[in-house]
Amino acid sequence: MKRRILNIACIGAGYVGGPTMAVIADRCPHVSVTVIDLNEARIAAWNSDALPVYEPGLDEVIRRTRGRNLRFIPQREGAAAVAAADAVFISVNTPTKTQGAGAGKASDLGYVEACARYIAEHALGHTIVIEKSTMPVRAADTIKRILATSPRVGTFDVLSNPEFLAEGTAIRDLEKPDRVLIGGETPSAVDALAEVYAHWVPDQAILRTGLWSAELSKLAANAFLAQRVSSINAISALCEVTGAQVEEVAKVLGTDTRIGPKFLKASVGYGGSCFKKDLLSLVYLCEFYGLTEPAAYWQSVQDLNEWQKRRFAHMAATHAKKQGGVVAVLGLAFKKNTNDFRESPAIDICNHLLAEGVRLRLQDERVDPHTFGAVLVDDHKAGFDFFSEVAEAVRGADAILVLTEWDQYTTLDWRKLSTVAAPGVMIFDGRTVVDLVAASAARLPVFTVGIGAAK
Ligand code: NAD
Ligand code: UGA
Repeated sequence: MKRRILNIACIGAGYVGGPTMAVIADRCPHVSVTVIDLNEARIAAWNSDALPVYEPGLDEVIRRTRGRNLRFIPQREGAAAVAAADAVFISVNTPTKTQGAGAGKASDLGYVEACARYIAEHALGHTIVIEKSTMPVRAADTIKRILATSPRVGTFDVLSNPEFLAEGTAIRDLEKPDRVLIGGETPSAVDALAEVYAHWVPDQAILRTGLWSAELSKLAANAFLAQRVSSINAISALCEVTGAQVEEVAKVLGTDTRIGPKFLKASVGYGGSCFKKDLLSLVYLCEFYGLTEPAAYWQSVQDLNEWQKRRFAHMAATHAKKQGGVVAVLGLAFKKNTNDFRESPAIDICNHLLAEGVRLRLQDERVDPHTFGAVLVDDHKAGFDFFSEVAEAVRGADAILVLTEWDQYTTLDWRKLSTVAAPGVMIFDGRTVVDLVAASAARLPVFTVGIGAAK
């Protein structure tokens, strides 16, 4: 039977649910889209001018769609939207488990299971349930089992449609995806979802696979991306001690068409809410199936990332403590163009510095300082302060760390900044964004990841 999706509900109004549904509503004006969340403050923010997610281009898409065919409602009002929906996306968080079997590695499917129960309770007729969240392979079995307990006389199909957007470029990624992946067992359900995307995604970019391949492909894609960052970061350390320059090496690697130029930027370590949790989920799956060597291989990608953050923090702390022990940290977001700092390298680095008794002066272009401050651990009471201006943050600093590649940091006036920083200040550039010529003209020494010290 040919099915058509005209009514969509999405559970989870986060970094994925909000932007993804906004783009679907934008590209499919004939489809009615309702986004539901337990977090009422988040829903209120989606309905305001201060959206809870910062993404270039998101404001415009929301302006075109909200109140037309897109609405955001609290979950206590969501039952009717689920009952009316032809398709329900599950787009809730799937964090690492903190207790029980697999704690510290396996994905916590508690939020997903709660969604499946909610759908089972309220769905009517035939409903296509779509995994948009990143799930461990075979999670669809769990969802199907819960849906089978539905007290209603409804029927269900379960599809896996993982999201590949990256934060900071979410709207561009959603509007022009490399591919859309749909895994499923029922061709009519797969076709119905493909028809939604076909309104703006070329047919050849809509990939159809089995359910388990789709679930595993998402974990594998993030693991491959994280592995590239760890690989170039491993090379960055070798560059620093040999005189090779990581950007030159990356350029050479990237011109090999088999390797390609993207994701070869040395850094202070990758961050973000997904790479670590998805790698650990993959490690857990390998261990679960007795695949010890593959588990160790993927674990090493994460271990290298932790090492990169630690060694950078240690270098900066050592320098700062020889002087007055004050460090300015420029950049708290895990990458530029987002207000997200989940698993940002800045968190571990700041905590390491605080543990060394260093006093921090923090600045970012988008991150909310109060929520960032809440994740810091300051047992030594070294203390930290937030500043909205770079010039204020670097006042009296013995070390200046650049931890996010915000465009603003590429054009800093180092001559001016050198007049407010402490004498003997050193810049530690964890993103290769500092203008070395300008810093040198201001007589500021710079340590750049993958290059080493330049005076
Ligand atoms: P998020 O934490 O920003 O949003 C999840 C939302 O779900 C929250 O607002 C939370 O209140 C809500 N929620 C949780 N349980 C609920 C329930 N039972 N009922 C209603 N609402 C509920 O998370 P996110 O960054 O949007 O990620 C969601 C999923 O997408 C994760 O599995 C993640 O791995 C995956 N993913 C994320 C990204 C990204 O860039 N952030 C990209 C691709 C895939
Ligand atoms: C990543 C993937 O790129 C998305 O495809 C995926 O959908 C998403 O995870 C997810 O599942 O959540 P995201 O984490 O938003 O997206 O951002 P990335 O651009 O991948 O950057 C991740 C981290 O790696 C950042 O801290 C970034 O600074 C770092 N990075 C990236 C490097 O250090 N070097 C690089 O060359 C690239």
